[in-house]
Amino acid sequence: MAEQEPGKTQDGPEVDRLREHHYDGIQEYDNNLPRWWLTLFYLTIAWAVLYVGWYHIAGNKLGADRLKDDLKELAELRVKNQSGPLTEEQLRSLSTNPERIARGKAVYASAECATCHAADGTGGVGPNLRDRWWMYGSDLAQMVAVMANGSPNRTMPAQKSKLAGDDINNLAIFIADWNRQGEKPGKAHDPAREKEQPIRY
Ligand code: HEC
Repeated sequence: MAEQEPGKTQDGPEVDRLREHHYDGIQEYDNNLPRWWLTLFYLTIAWAVLYVGWYHIAGNKLGADRLKDDLKELAELRVKNQSGPLTEEQLRSLSTNPERIARGKAVYASAECATCHAADGTGGVGPNLRDRWWMYGSDLAQMVAVMANGSPNRTMPAQKSKLAGDDINNLAIFIADWNRQGEKPGKAHDPAREKEQPIRY
């Protein structure tokens, strides 16, 4: 009989090739990996490249970070779809929203607030908005009310005829963000009229 090439029958198709060594009487084949196995293997490599690219290089978020972003977006959508004034909870949940803070900052600069409260909010004719002392309360909803309606003594002019409701919300959000960065000394507080009441976040 003709000498048979290892791994092949005479007619060509592959047969199982035994390797020479024994481990405790166990022998193993030396065959090529099956096509289905190799296909899966290459697919996992391709998957790893896509995964690293999508999540780690392109920066798409996963898990807890993704959830946080989605919840923020949801809170913003709820606010957009509701009519009437925002609740304290809604204002607080928006008080870290960078777009709202930026819009509030722009309104503060254009609405003459600085004339009485100074450009950096530390007070002048009006009180310091960057300390923990408040006449009308440190809740954001209370600030919105004073800004919209003005103070009863008329020294703080009502803004609701000049500004849109959402601009006034954004002003309160911007003031909250200023305070979150720490107090800034300025006009001394009036102990007879201002209560110590740090903003709650
Ligand atoms: C004409 C001066 C003047 C202008 C302009 C002005 N304010 Fe005031 N503001 C005051 C005075 C004065 C008070 C204190 C009212 C009082 O004595 O009852 C006050 C009070 C406030 C309070 C409440 C502070 C507290 O302790 O409770 C907030 C918040 C505030 N102003 C924000 C603003 C913002 C934001 C603007 C710009 C849209 C603005 N003010 C424009 C004079 C002004």
